[in-house]
Amino acid sequence: MSLQVFLPDNAPFTESQRAWLNGFVAGLLGAERARAEPGVADPPAASTGAAEEFPWHDPTLALDERMKLAEGRPLERRLMAAMGQLDCSQCGYLCKTYAEAVASGAEADLGKCVPGGRETARKLKELVALRPAVPSAQPARAAAPAPVERGYGRDAPVPARLVASAPLTAPGSERDVRHVVLDIGDAGLAYDPGDALGIWPHNNPDEVELLVAILRAKGSEAVTLADGAVVPAREALARECDLRAPTDALYALLAREAADEVDRSRLARLAQDDAHADTFGVHDVLDALLEFPSARPRIGDFVAALARMQPRLYSIASSQKRHPREAHLTVGVLRYDGNDRTYMGAASGFLAEHLRPGRTVSVFVQRAHAFRLPADLAAHVIMVGPGTGIAPFRAFLQERAAAAAAGRNWLFFGNQRREADFLYREELEDLAARRVLSRMDLAFSRDQTSKVYVQHKMLEAAPELWRWLSNGAHLYVCGDAKRMAGDVELALQQIAVAQGGMDAASAKRWLADLAKAGRYQRDVY
Ligand SMILES: Cc1cc2nc3c(=O)[nH]c(=O)nc-3n(C[C@H](O)[C@H](O)[C@H](O)COP(=O)(O)OP(=O)(O)OC[C@H]3O[C@@H](n4cnc5c(N)ncnc54)[C@H](O)[C@@H]3O)c2cc1C
Ligand SMILES: NC(=O)c1ccc[n+]([C@@H]2O[C@H](COP(=O)([O-])OP(=O)(O)OC[C@H]3O[C@@H](n4cnc5c(N)ncnc54)[C@H](OP(=O)(O)O)[C@@H]3O)[C@@H](O)[C@H]2O)c1
Repeated sequence: MSLQVFLPDNAPFTESQRAWLNGFVAGLLGAERARAEPGVADPPAASTGAAEEFPWHDPTLALDERMKLAEGRPLERRLMAAMGQLDCSQCGYLCKTYAEAVASGAEADLGKCVPGGRETARKLKELVALRPAVPSAQPARAAAPAPVERGYGRDAPVPARLVASAPLTAPGSERDVRHVVLDIGDAGLAYDPGDALGIWPHNNPDEVELLVAILRAKGSEAVTLADGAVVPAREALARECDLRAPTDALYALLAREAADEVDRSRLARLAQDDAHADTFGVHDVLDALLEFPSARPRIGDFVAALARMQPRLYSIASSQKRHPREAHLTVGVLRYDGNDRTYMGAASGFLAEHLRPGRTVSVFVQRAHAFRLPADLAAHVIMVGPGTGIAPFRAFLQERAAAAAAGRNWLFFGNQRREADFLYREELEDLAARRVLSRMDLAFSRDQTSKVYVQHKMLEAAPELWRWLSNGAHLYVCGDAKRMAGDVELALQQIAVAQGGMDAASAKRWLADLAKAGRYQRDVY
C-alpha cells in the first residue's frame, strides 16, 4: 500500500508526531468510508464513546471496580455496571437496555447475563431489592419486541447440522479445543467476518436421566415453564432449563421440602446468599440434590424453580467467501473436576461430546456491533488473538485472501505449548508461506521457564508495530477479557509512550481516539 500522507512537510511536528497524525487521519477517513458503506460496522462501543459516558463499561474491570465507578448513579446505571459489559446481546439486550428493562420492572429475569454469570445475577438481585415497587395498577410492560428475521437473533434460531467437532489441541495439551463445523446451508444464513454464532445447547442426557431418577419421577410428567408453555419434564430438563447454576428459588424450594433439619437450615442460608455454595459442595443443580438428600420436591415444582437456558456465543472462524454453506467455530471445552465428578460447560460440552455428527442444533447469527475488517482492502490489519481468540482472525484471513486484499496482515497468536496448542498451525503456516500473513509472532507461554505472552511479542516488535499503526493499520484483539485484554491495552500504551514520545495520559487518549476512529476493536469474553 502506498503511504498516505495528509500533513504538509512543513507542518510543525516531529517525525513521530507526523507519522502518528497521518495514521490517525487515515484511520478517521477509513472509518468515515466504513460508515458510508452498508453492512460495515459502527464504531466500537465497549472501549470508546460509551466508555466516556459509562466508565464502568469495560469488560476487563472486576465487578467491585465497576460498582465503585457507578456509585451515586441512578439505579439503572448501577444495574448496568453489574452486567458483563460485553454488549454481546446473548440476553437479547445490550448491557444498558437490559439494565433499564430490569430497573423499570419490564424484565423480571435477572439471570440472563451469561458472561456475568451468578456474580451478576446476585448483584442484580441486591440492587433490585432497592427499587421502589412498581405500582400494581400500572405494571411495567416490556416494549413489544421488534420482529426478528429468522436466524438472526436468540428468539428466532434455525437448525444447523453438525458436520464435525475435531480436536485442535494435541495429546499433552492441558486444554481441549475443537474445530466445530456446522452446515448452515439449508437455513440460508449469511454472516460477515467478526459475527458470532449463537448456540442453544441441550443438557447432558445422562445428567437429565439422573435428575429424573433422583426425583423418583417418570420424566413424562407435564410441567409448566415460566412462559406458561406445558412440556414433558424430560424435555424441559434437556433443553429449556439451566442445569449449571442453582437459583435462589431452587434453594428455597429444597429448604421447604427438606425433611432433615440441618439440610433445611443450610438450604435456607443458600437461598439468602449462595456466594459460598461451593463450600457446601454445590457447583450445579445435580449437586444441590446430591448434597441435600432429604429434599425431594415434585418434578413440576423442581423444573419451575430452575433458571431458563440461555444461548452461548462463539466467534465465527470461517469466511463465507471460502465456505458458503458452513460456519466454523473454535470451541474451548470447559471441563473441571470436583466432588468426584467431571463438570462440563453446557454449550462447549454439548458441541464437543453430546451432539452427534449429522444431528442438528438451533443457531442464530449474532451480528458484531463493532468488530469488522476495514472496508479499505489496502488498509493494514494487526490481529492479537491468543487461545480461542484466534477464531475471528481465521475468518478475517480467509476473507482477506478471498478478496485478494492488498493490505498486509500481521497476527500475534499465543497459547501454552507449541507442540500441543498451536491451533490451526498448518493453515497459518501456509498463509504465511503464501504471504497472506505478512508477519506472525508467536508466544508459547509454557515452553520456557518464564511466561511469554502476546503482549511481550508486541513490545519486542514495538518500532514496527508503531510504523504499521502510523500508516493507518487497524488493530483487533480477541480472547480472554479478564487478563489478556487489559494487559494488551497497557502494552499498546507503553508502545505509544516509547515510540510516539507521549506521556501516559496522551497514550491513553491516543488509544481512545484510535478506538473512536474504528481502528482499535476488541471482541473479548
Ligand atoms: C462474543 C463472544 C464470543 C465468544 N467466542 C468464543 C469462541 O470463539 N470460543 C470459545 O471457546 N468461547 C467463546 N465465547 C465463550 C462462550 O460463549 C461460552 O461462554 C463458553 O464456551 C463457556 O460456555 P459453556 O456453556 O461451555 O459453559 P457454562 O455452562 O456456561 O459454564 C461456565 C461457568 O462455569 C463456571 N466455571 C468455569 N470454570 C470453573 C471452575 N474451574 N470451577 C468452578 N466453576 C467454573 C463459571 O461460573 C462459568 O461462568 C464467546 C463469548 C462471547 C460473549
Ligand atoms: N479465568 C480463568 O482462570 C480462565 C482460565 C482459562 C480460560 N479462561 C477463559 O477461557 C477463554 C479462552 O481460553 P483459552 O483456553 O482459549 O485461552 P487462554 O486461557 O486465554 O490462554 C491462551 C494463552 O494466553 C496466555 N495468557 C494467560 N494470561 C495472559 C495475559 N494476562 N496476557 C496474555 N496472555 C495470557 C495463556 O498462558 P498461561 O495459561 O500459560 O498463563 C495461554 O498461553 C476465555 O473466555 C478465558 O476467559 C479463563
